[in-house]
Amino acid sequence: MESTQIRLAARPEGEPKDTDFAVATVELPELGDGQVLLRVRYLSLDPYMRGRMSAAKSYAAPVELGSVMVGGTVCEVVESRADSLAPGDVVLSFSGWQTHAVADARHVRKLDPEAAPISTALGVLGMPGFTAYGGLLEIGRPQPGETVVVAAATGPVGSAVGQIARIKGARAVGIAGGPDKCRALLDEFGFDAAVDHRAPDFEERLAEAVPDGIDVYFENVGGRVADAVTPLLNRFARIPVCGLVSLYNATGLPAGPDRLPGFMRQILTLSLTVRGFIQDEFIPTRHADFLRDMPGWIGDGSVRYREDVVAGLENAPEAFRAMLSGRNFGKVLVRVGD
Ligand SMILES: NC(=O)c1ccc[n+]([C@@H]2O[C@H](COP(=O)([O-])OP(=O)(O)OC[C@H]3O[C@@H](n4cnc5c(N)ncnc54)[C@H](OP(=O)(O)O)[C@@H]3O)[C@@H](O)[C@H]2O)c1
Repeated sequence: MESTQIRLAARPEGEPKDTDFAVATVELPELGDGQVLLRVRYLSLDPYMRGRMSAAKSYAAPVELGSVMVGGTVCEVVESRADSLAPGDVVLSFSGWQTHAVADARHVRKLDPEAAPISTALGVLGMPGFTAYGGLLEIGRPQPGETVVVAAATGPVGSAVGQIARIKGARAVGIAGGPDKCRALLDEFGFDAAVDHRAPDFEERLAEAVPDGIDVYFENVGGRVADAVTPLLNRFARIPVCGLVSLYNATGLPAGPDRLPGFMRQILTLSLTVRGFIQDEFIPTRHADFLRDMPGWIGDGSVRYREDVVAGLENAPEAFRAMLSGRNFGKVLVRVGD
């Protein structure tokens, strides 16, 4: 069996270019005991992959040059030498940007295609949904009547943050790029207010949208959005620092004055809690609750999700660039093969 792979060819400077990726077709090895042959059906594209393309020190090792790009996948078992899995089973794997893979059965999780659409295991019921759940409830701790602000708000993390905030009785204010996304925040995801960060008067609009200030700022983007949020923070506000996507393609420091001393003063005088996290640290304490709560909320309509599905593995690099610059609309998935 052959696999077509997308590998990291060069470490990008700024936005990843086509030449930073290379396509290769390889012969897969024979299955060993306990292994399965997988056909990838969906590949998840996530902002963290930009970090893995870089050699900079981070919470996870970089992808080696010449290696397959990493990524979560939903796959079908084609052949099995493991008792726990049979051909036709659908599993969650981490087989990366390729069409087929050999995996140890103990490293994949069997999915129930009757329980939920299989693609949701990479989005609202998977890592991004859990990121929202863990980060918001563990660090943000929204209380009834409080105001929660989140950007990248139509994405899989942000949309779940706003909707969970509302379930907990808080007021959800979403920030997104452009009028269509802002409309979806109100009409589709039930946010209380939506603000377009691309609008020239974004800072004023945000201030109008939070008349009682901000109690939880779920940080997904950094940059201009974070600069607009910080003057509006209330005493004892909590900031789960989840991501800084506006900076992922940056090649230098942002323009303008150094804002760190002013922000440190705010942390002191407003007794702010600013805490970074990587979602898997909450698996021991929160994952079982997530797997109970999230399907229930989807079932009763209190959480909705949107997927942006791109056909064909060869289109993954362009879809990845699009996501980093906001040209996606919902959880980005690549449909691989049929
Ligand atoms: N800490 C963790 O464990 C963890 C786990 C998963 C994800 N994350 C982080 O969570 C964040 C959201 O991830 P996601 O998967 O839900 O991504 P996503 O929302 O599907 O895609 C990224 C979005 O970021 C927004 N964006 C890009 N540049 C921006 C800018 N300059 N200013 C404002 N917004 C900008 C765009 O939305 P608009 O068009 O609306 O601007 C874009 O659609 C990312 O920072 C990611 O790294 C962290």
